Amino acid sequence: VFTVMLARSGQEFTVEPGMTILETLLQNGISRNYSCTQGVCGTCETKVLEGEPDHRDWVLSDEKKASNSTMLICCSLSKSPRLVLDI
Ligand code: FES
Repeated sequence: VFTVMLARSGQEFTVEPGMTILETLLQNGISRNYSCTQGVCGTCETKVLEGEPDHRDWVLSDEKKASNSTMLICCSLSKSPRLVLDI
C-alpha cells in the first residue's frame, strides 16, 4: 500500500494491493490517457516529482528508470510510501 499525491490539485489517493495507480485514479474520476495497460505502449507515462517508483514497464530505458523522474502508471508501483506525480 502506498499513496499517490497529485501535485497540481493536491489530491491524495491510496493505492490498495492488487490495484494500479492508473486504476486508482480512474476510479476516483481522474481521467488519464492510456492504451495497453501492460507497460508496453508508453501512453500513460507520467512525470514523478517525489518518491521512488517500482518500475514494471518495458518502455523506459535503464537510465530513465534510475532517474526516478518518470513512470508508467498503468503497471509500475512504488518503493516509497508516497509518490508525488505531476498531474
Ligand atoms: Fe501502455 Fe501504460 S498504458 S504503457
